[in-house]
Amino acid sequence: MSATNKPDRRLTVADIHSMHADGERLPMLTAYDYPTARILDDAGIPMLLVGDSLGQVLLGYDSTVRVSMTEMLHHTAAVVRGSKRALVIADMPFLSYSSVDDALANAGRFLREAGATAVKVEGGVRSARTVEALVRAGVPVMGHIGWTPQSQHGMGGKVRVQGKSRETARALLADAIAIQEAGAFSMVLELVPEQLAASITSRLRIPTIGIGAGAGCSGQVQVITDVLGLGDFSPRHARKYADLQATIRSAAEAWAADVRTGNFPGPAETVRMDEQTLDEVLGRTAQDRASADAMASDGMGLGAGIPLDRDL
Ligand code: KIV
Repeated sequence: MSATNKPDRRLTVADIHSMHADGERLPMLTAYDYPTARILDDAGIPMLLVGDSLGQVLLGYDSTVRVSMTEMLHHTAAVVRGSKRALVIADMPFLSYSSVDDALANAGRFLREAGATAVKVEGGVRSARTVEALVRAGVPVMGHIGWTPQSQHGMGGKVRVQGKSRETARALLADAIAIQEAGAFSMVLELVPEQLAASITSRLRIPTIGIGAGAGCSGQVQVITDVLGLGDFSPRHARKYADLQATIRSAAEAWAADVRTGNFPGPAETVRMDEQTLDEVLGRTAQDRASADAMASDGMGLGAGIPLDRDL
C-alpha cells in the first residue's frame, strides 16, 4: 500500500501488515485529545497511540503508574472521535492486565466503550500468556519491550537503555520472539541499542516500532508533546519539530495585552443588534417617553422590574 493509495476508512492491523510488507516505514505518534488527533489523522499518521505517557505529559503525574482505566478510556474515546483513518491503540495502564481475566475485561472496555482498534501491553515473556489470550479473544495487541515504564520501580527506578549486556540482550530477543509468537501485530522497542533493535527487527515477521532504539526498526513512535516542543524536558531520543510552548505563551501574552488595552474584542469578534429593537427593549421610543411623562403627571412612580431608559 503506497502513501498515496491509502483506503478512505479506518486502518486495520491488516493494513499495517501490508504497509510493513511493502517496506514502508511506519510512523506512530501519541495523541490524547480530540483536536490533536484530528490534526494528526489529517496529516496521514497511520497509528495513534493513546499512551499512558498521558499521565506525565498531560495530567502532570510523576509517573505512568498513576494513570487509571477511567482516564485512559476518557482520552482514548476523544482520540477515536478526532480521527477517521488512523488505527487507534490504547495503552493498558498499570495493573489493568495483571491477570488474564482483568486483561480481557479491560481490553474489552477499550474496544467497546472507547472505540479503540487495538491495545498495547508492556512486557515480553512475562506478558506472552496475556497477549495470547487477548489475541485469541479477538483483540489486536501491540507489545512493548525494552524499557517498560510501568515496571520502573522494579527496574531500579532510573530510566535506562535495556539490553546492553549479553544476558539482557538475549533476554530481549527472547521477549521479542515470545510476543510475536503470542500473536501481537507489532511491538514497541523502547530504549534499546541500535544494533540490537535492528537485529531483533530482522528476526521478526511483525513490525517493530522504535523509540530510542535507532533507525533499524520498522517504524518509529514519539510522544507528541516532545515533537511539538510542549514538554517540560526533552529526552535524548526526541527531536523537536515545533516550539508550541513559545507559540502558546506569546499568543496568550498578546491576547491578554489586547484585553488590557481594550483592543479585544474588536468589531470582527462582536455581535450587534438592531438599534430600533434595542430602543424598544430599553423604553427609548417616542411612545415610551410620552407614556412615562403621563405616568409622572398622574403621580405614579417607577414600576417594578428593570428600569428602562424612559424611567431614568
Ligand atoms: O505511553 C507511551 O507514550 C508509550 C510510548 C512511549 C511508546 O508507551
